[in-house]
Amino acid sequence: MNWNICMANYICGDFKICGNRFFRVMKMYWVFVCLIAFGCTGSPDKSGDATSDLKDTVLHSTAMELYTTYCAGCHGNNMAGGSGGSLLKETWTYGRTRSLIFRNIKFGIEGTDMAGFENILDDGQIGNLVDYLWQAQNETPGNVVEIPEVIETSQYQIQVQQIIADGLEVPWAIEFISDRRALISERKGQLRWLIGGKLDAEPITGTPIPHTGSTTGGFMDIALDPNYLNNGWVYLAYSHSQGNYDDELAPATTRVIRGKIEDHQWVDQQNIFLAADSLWVTEGNRWGSRLLFDDREHLYFSIGDMARAADSQDPAKVSGKIYRIKADGTIPADNPFVRTPGALGAVYSLGNRNVQGFSIHPETREVWFSEHGPMGGDELNILKPNANYGWPVITYGRDYSGEIVSNITHREGMEQPVVQWTPSIGVCPVEFIQGNRFAAWKNNLLVGALALEELQRLVIKDGEVIAREMLLKGVGRVRDIKMAPDGSIYLVLNNPDVLLRLTTEETTG
Ligand code: HEC
Repeated sequence: MNWNICMANYICGDFKICGNRFFRVMKMYWVFVCLIAFGCTGSPDKSGDATSDLKDTVLHSTAMELYTTYCAGCHGNNMAGGSGGSLLKETWTYGRTRSLIFRNIKFGIEGTDMAGFENILDDGQIGNLVDYLWQAQNETPGNVVEIPEVIETSQYQIQVQQIIADGLEVPWAIEFISDRRALISERKGQLRWLIGGKLDAEPITGTPIPHTGSTTGGFMDIALDPNYLNNGWVYLAYSHSQGNYDDELAPATTRVIRGKIEDHQWVDQQNIFLAADSLWVTEGNRWGSRLLFDDREHLYFSIGDMARAADSQDPAKVSGKIYRIKADGTIPADNPFVRTPGALGAVYSLGNRNVQGFSIHPETREVWFSEHGPMGGDELNILKPNANYGWPVITYGRDYSGEIVSNITHREGMEQPVVQWTPSIGVCPVEFIQGNRFAAWKNNLLVGALALEELQRLVIKDGEVIAREMLLKGVGRVRDIKMAPDGSIYLVLNNPDVLLRLTTEETTG
């Protein structure tokens, strides 16, 4: 199923109804060839044939002329919209950052009439166009991100409370310890207490220093031991190097540790998973990592492809896997690769590009997970032992450079996702809804997105997604979602770095 995110038409998944790419590119050429031929481009010289005019325009044009030539036909002369939507935005459907807008212009938006300009405009020209669009926004109000106080949804009027409005720096995860206390990880390498709804000013000391020599590493997920109340173990996943923490050339890998927290002190640290140093990588990126305990007290964790896509298929390499271990770090005897010579016994599944969301289905007890694709091809999957999720042999996405990763999306012996998102939403946390507060949404799956800044609700039946609803859009990168002990929903956002609590009126059920 190919789900293209369109706010105006956000009811059900559709197959690719917009025709093939060739057809769309032709349509776009037609738009601006017409514009030039009929003299409505505003370009200075309208004589001569359309092709030489076009070349001339491309070589000598300012951003405004480029816009008029290539974009106005669909987005309107003053950006207010035409067959393409308005580019004067309160909410960007396909991403509001400079790099996302750049990518959208260069590579197009799959499933819409917006074809890529990579063969028509060079990067400098596209950059100028982005600046031009950018400047136009400053003239209009509404470009500032405002977090709503209320979200109107199909069933609930949701109150949005900003629990922490400032004081956090790139928070990554939240884990509730009781109804009064939660732990929050910050990517740069801190753990913080949330006590009685307030961020504790004093950070927890004694935690290790993470490797931050890449854009994605640092402290990631936190989990509590299933017997936390008796033993106090807190698990932490982070990108680890031996010194030279901010040097991208320092060998690094994803590590899982556990420790106890006494007031503001991290103590009794133990290693839970750390691959042999011969397997660490330099210039790595995409470290995972979510943690999840299942009913048998097995701990699952993910390691991203660490910029080593091909290694994701090799059970002897660390990259691109989901792992399963026992709480003390030992390897369950029924793990799929325990008897494979050379393989890492902790490996549970292969071909996972970067898993950043895990949640257990409240009824079937299956582990569902999200997987961050490249450009296109974000996935939602169900975990099975020894399954191969395909990266990079099969994928629905292209690399960020525009290069094709693979021409195939299916192969015998490789899993198909339950859902894939192209263009990518930047899928990150997933969390099943439980408890009485959102009873009408019981067992629905909340999905958070980084790049397109979304909170979606998916209705799941018999292992398939049968409906969905956009709950939030464009108010920040959704990094973590947790059901709190009181049945409310907590959202950890980045840019802005805030903690939100979503509630409805108390119910008595
Ligand atoms: C053939 C028509 C067409 C042309 C030509 C075209 N676009 Fe688009 N564009 C679309 C459609 C359709 C969409 C997706 C739906 C929407 O937002 O309107 C889109 C989306 C976009 C978006 C994403 C908007 C968002 O909300 O995230 C940007 C940015 C954009 N176009 C910029 C441009 C620029 C710059 C040009 C010229 C270089 C251009 N487009 C040319 C049709 C077109």
